[in-house]
Amino acid sequence: MMNLIGLQELSRQRMIALLDASERYLSEDGQVITPAEDRELLREQTFALLFLEPSTRTRTSFDLAIQRLGGRSVTISGQGSSLQKGESAADTCKTVAAMGVDGLVVRHHDRHLPHVLSERMNLPVINAGNGSGEHPTQGLLDALTLRRHFNSGEGLSGLKIAIVGDIVHSRVARSDAHIFSALGADVLLAGPRMLLPTEAQLDAWPARVTTSRKEALRWADAVVVLRIQQERLRGSVVDPHRYASDWGIDQSVIEQYMSPLTVILHPGPVIRGVELSDPVIDSPQSLIWRQVTHGVAVRQAVIAAYFGPREERA
Ligand code: CP
Repeated sequence: MMNLIGLQELSRQRMIALLDASERYLSEDGQVITPAEDRELLREQTFALLFLEPSTRTRTSFDLAIQRLGGRSVTISGQGSSLQKGESAADTCKTVAAMGVDGLVVRHHDRHLPHVLSERMNLPVINAGNGSGEHPTQGLLDALTLRRHFNSGEGLSGLKIAIVGDIVHSRVARSDAHIFSALGADVLLAGPRMLLPTEAQLDAWPARVTTSRKEALRWADAVVVLRIQQERLRGSVVDPHRYASDWGIDQSVIEQYMSPLTVILHPGPVIRGVELSDPVIDSPQSLIWRQVTHGVAVRQAVIAAYFGPREERA
């Protein structure tokens, strides 16, 4: 059974194949397209989107991607489902599978859930975010956005990429660091000490760390900015005003430390005025809206590869 659980389990070759397949769903000027021959790829098939943690971008783009490929989707959210009556997430997924859907896209706070499902289910599973584990389609779309912006060939060789903010609680940081490094980029993790991996945890990260915003921003060709995952902080609180002052990026920080050629990415949702200021989000250096568009193309490619007809599954 083909499952997409994390980028750490994929070879470099497989990641490049998925990025190349995503290009099929983007026009030269970066709009999402679906070639006529792909519009019935998922005909008569229904997929369940189990978003048991909140989502706007990932859920909507998976839904759009399925529709654009001719499939149907049903969405189950945490709110209003029998999870609220005490059912386990695994049983909720099993219940939906028993109704005859053809594949599952799952987001949940439990890091182990996608692995459990992939072992127990006889249908393909795509991980749309497992707690602070991985967010593989976000990693792919971030790599695609950088590859297209820098026109860097099949990978990201020679690029210097800083991931800035709440690293330790971030599934995006894990998937990004892994794919960026696998594709040849040099990766630097930057943030306050309490939001960085410890020395012992660093073995699992293909990256080095710094607690200096200035060092990271001066060094990088691209900066991936992350939100503080307040929902995963368990008691320890980060003051947003202090964080904005020490780690936020506004126009004056850009002028002080960054080259005008350095680009800024953010997986969203952005907390405006904390990690990025309003003008920076919409500035020419920001690739944030392009990331959102690329998310649909990447998810079309992933769905075709994992849920498509068997002969299409790469
Ligand atoms: N980047 C991302 O996962 O956004 P959502 O939480 O809105 O899906």
